[in-house]
Amino acid sequence: MSRSRPLSVPVPALFVVLGLASCSSEDKPAAKEPEAKFPEMVGVTFAADENPDPHVVEVSLTAQRAKKDIGGKEVVMMTYNGEAPGPVIRAHVGDEVIVHFDNLLDEPTTIHWHGLRIPDAMDGSPRIQDPVPAKGIYTYRFKVPEAGSFWYHPHVRPFDQIERGLYGMFVVYGKDDPAYDAERYLALDDLRLVNSSVAPPDFSTFPEMMHGRYGDMLITNGQKAELAKGESKRGKVERWRLVNTANARTQRLGIEGAKWRIIGTDGGLLNTPYTPKEIVLPVGQRYDVEVSYDTVGTVKLLSSIAVADGADKVKYVPTQVFAVDVAEGTEAPREIAWPELPVREKRVADAALSLSFNAIQTSDGMVEWQVNGKAHSMDAVGTYKVGQTVKIKLENKLGPEHPFHLHGQFFEILNKPEYPGLKDTVLIPGMETVEVLAYMDNPGRWMAHCHILEHAELGLMSEIVVEGEPGQVSPGLPDHGHGQH
Ligand code: C2O
Ligand code: CU
Repeated sequence: MSRSRPLSVPVPALFVVLGLASCSSEDKPAAKEPEAKFPEMVGVTFAADENPDPHVVEVSLTAQRAKKDIGGKEVVMMTYNGEAPGPVIRAHVGDEVIVHFDNLLDEPTTIHWHGLRIPDAMDGSPRIQDPVPAKGIYTYRFKVPEAGSFWYHPHVRPFDQIERGLYGMFVVYGKDDPAYDAERYLALDDLRLVNSSVAPPDFSTFPEMMHGRYGDMLITNGQKAELAKGESKRGKVERWRLVNTANARTQRLGIEGAKWRIIGTDGGLLNTPYTPKEIVLPVGQRYDVEVSYDTVGTVKLLSSIAVADGADKVKYVPTQVFAVDVAEGTEAPREIAWPELPVREKRVADAALSLSFNAIQTSDGMVEWQVNGKAHSMDAVGTYKVGQTVKIKLENKLGPEHPFHLHGQFFEILNKPEYPGLKDTVLIPGMETVEVLAYMDNPGRWMAHCHILEHAELGLMSEIVVEGEPGQVSPGLPDHGHGQH
């Protein structure tokens, strides 16, 4: 196939910020541009919108191997547009998004738009879309139905392709978004290097089969986490969009040195922001956090890392994964007035589903992960009509945790009120059962799997079918969080 589009060149963040002021505001109505400023940050670039139509975002992504400096080591990563993470894609609710995708890898891949309730044909599921072959091209095209923090990544050999850097953030702005002084993107990950190469997948070791791949270096926006730093001034209030892009590691986060609250989850803004003791961010999930710089000093995002403490004990060591130096400013700290978001009632379940997650050891010594006794099930574990509300019981029979992800829909967690809001991913700790209320509002065939990428590869993968006309995302979502906080 002939390749008529030029390769897009990664643009440094600062250039894009300047570019917005000098050209985009001339070609386009100002309303299209998000209001927040984007401070320059290590590892953050933006996808250039090539379409002058204010309601169309047209970008080019090229998957290719490229060298990256990570903590002083030259590492060959898999990248989008030469960057790992790939560029942040930004759109507004209702926009049409067109992504010209070029696969310059030597293996097939797809792009899955994690959390976006788009038609299944565009979802990057290899069960529906033939993977884009090596050196192939594909055009993704969809409308974005709601505001929030999402991300994109491959769904072919994701345990290896995502580990090597193939992921990026996808941000959708809505009319209710409060105006902040700045917005920051934080993709939290870990990486396992052997010398200066990403360690290849290893399904021969029991820990990796049981718990998934843990890296030995924490990385933030693709760079060694301790190098991820920013600057601001006292009185500024920012929105941080966090996503956990690791293969397996749940992040337990805290913020030190500033006032903060969670304002959004996978499914967008919360009706009632809240400040938990810690932010538990399993792989796949997102949190939006409002951070108010009320004092001068260093604001730290800290991740509690379990380290061995003697023979069979672990202790948690707070480790910096991002920091902002806050200088004296002229503005007094201010309160962000929370918008009146539509309040909708929780819908009543009209169907029930039980999924249990278990593992067996096969005769060749491999671990096989199962959903209801089946690995890699191709049969739907549930079939619903569009608009149905399903109470799903997710039962973890063993010790390793499972961040369970349902494509194409949102749900609320029923038996853990400490996690309010709409989600597309939920953590099922070892030996626990979590109940969710899922809003089957988007017709199609949808993957339902563990986001620990090794678990998914070893079988913890199933499918849910929602019958209806494709593209008819019903708007019947409930209140974004009845949190009692
Ligand atoms: Cu983020 Cu099926 O995945
Ligand atoms: Cu799992």
